[in-house]
Amino acid sequence: MESAHLDNDLVNVLFTEAQIQGRLADMASEIAADYEGHDLLMVGVLRGAVMVMADLSRALPRHVEMDWMAISSYGSGTKSSGVVRILKDLDTDLTGKHVLIVEDIIDSGLTLSWLSANLGSRGPESVRIATLLRKPTAAKVDVQVSWVGFDIGEQFVVGYGLDYDERYRNLRDIGVLAPHMYG
Ligand code: IMP
Ligand code: MG
Repeated sequence: MESAHLDNDLVNVLFTEAQIQGRLADMASEIAADYEGHDLLMVGVLRGAVMVMADLSRALPRHVEMDWMAISSYGSGTKSSGVVRILKDLDTDLTGKHVLIVEDIIDSGLTLSWLSANLGSRGPESVRIATLLRKPTAAKVDVQVSWVGFDIGEQFVVGYGLDYDERYRNLRDIGVLAPHMYG
């Protein structure tokens, strides 16, 4: 029988729902100021960024367009290789648009590095990145991230869109998974 209390599977909660919402509100103020007077297209990366997109967009007191991409990065297990395949492309023409890529987490940064170059080649006015979480490994790749919610350590985290084997995305908090939940 599966536990209904998903929080029991966590070693510790890194960020509570309230902390996440508070940080997203701060990021939204900065984003709103930076894009004042311009149209804004937010591009969410499926599936992890669904929660960040929902809450960050609703924290913005302005009109935004939203579109989604699904990409899969070839790699073994939890490591990504930077070789990316588009599973679902945007429906929106990016010509002349200000594009904000919305991500849940940047680990190696390879996926985002590929994605921003790909979107950048479609004639947008600008492409910038907002991510809720960033790991230290991201520093090794040359990808400019305009907004970071929280810098975290090397640990594998779940919740608020982030999964382990497609589970835990629906947790409201973000936490570190207990070792006994692996495998
Ligand atoms: P990378 O930046 O190219 O290494 O890939 C980032 C992707 O790896 C994210 O969009 C997540 O899907 C996944 N990922 C990396 N670290 C974690 C983690 O700690 N928990 C859950 N997913 C992660
Ligand atoms: Mg994942």
